Amino acid sequence: MPSSSDALTPKTLSGFFFDLYDDAPRPLRMLIAARPYVCPYDKLVSFVPQGATVLDFGCGTGTFLAVLAAIGRLRHGTGCDVSPAPLAAARAAAARIGAADRLDFAPIKDVGSAPEGPFDVVAMVDVLHHIPPADRAQAIAAAARRTAPGGVFIYKDMTDRPLWRRFAHSLDDLVFSHELVRQVRQGEVEAWAAQSGLHLEHTEYIPRLVYGHQLRVFRKQ
Ligand SMILES: C[S@@+](CC[C@H](N)C(=O)[O-])C[C@H]1O[C@@H](n2cnc3c(N)ncnc32)[C@H](O)[C@@H]1O
Repeated sequence: MPSSSDALTPKTLSGFFFDLYDDAPRPLRMLIAARPYVCPYDKLVSFVPQGATVLDFGCGTGTFLAVLAAIGRLRHGTGCDVSPAPLAAARAAAARIGAADRLDFAPIKDVGSAPEGPFDVVAMVDVLHHIPPADRAQAIAAAARRTAPGGVFIYKDMTDRPLWRRFAHSLDDLVFSHELVRQVRQGEVEAWAAQSGLHLEHTEYIPRLVYGHQLRVFRKQ
């Protein structure tokens, strides 16, 4: 694993994940190894300051925290997820890179029961579109409450435009998560974040394969 975030590429991350999750069932291991070609972790990492404490909201198998720990970015990382099954893989990966003392993973029952913090960085990567639309504003408010004053909230989710990309994302969710989701609409997150005292610092659209990603980085006032 390269020590500098500049040297992270989908290819290096894919190889890192393939080695790291070697005791996961083969189909899961292949999906995790393929994910950096779809999800731009390489871009997200650069928004985490050196020595940060990080909450990864909806961490799944803990891939984002594993990368941050492996490149020495973290003081401490906490992952939480409503689905407890992937957290076992996350803990095994943390132990394998010698970061079990720097990474904790907690099952939660809903967004309101996530660890309180506050944290220097709160990340929410491809989670909001899995949350029912009526609860999304509350989820962003919960993330904002857990971001320390002067800290950063990193939000990344699938774009809902153009239509063909929205269709590709929705098909992916149907196949892999067995969920018919409503993608997050343009402008929604910015409005909810502003109501929660988060100031927008960075906006980026990242197309990858058939997927399109909306990245927003906010700072807590
Ligand atoms: C597409 S996965 C992304 C996982 C991880 N963030 C990543 O980038 O690999 C979506 C995750 O969001 C989790 N999730 C769904 N609803 C949630 C909620 N209300 N609170 C926390 N996590 C949630 C799911 O269990 C799943 O692990």
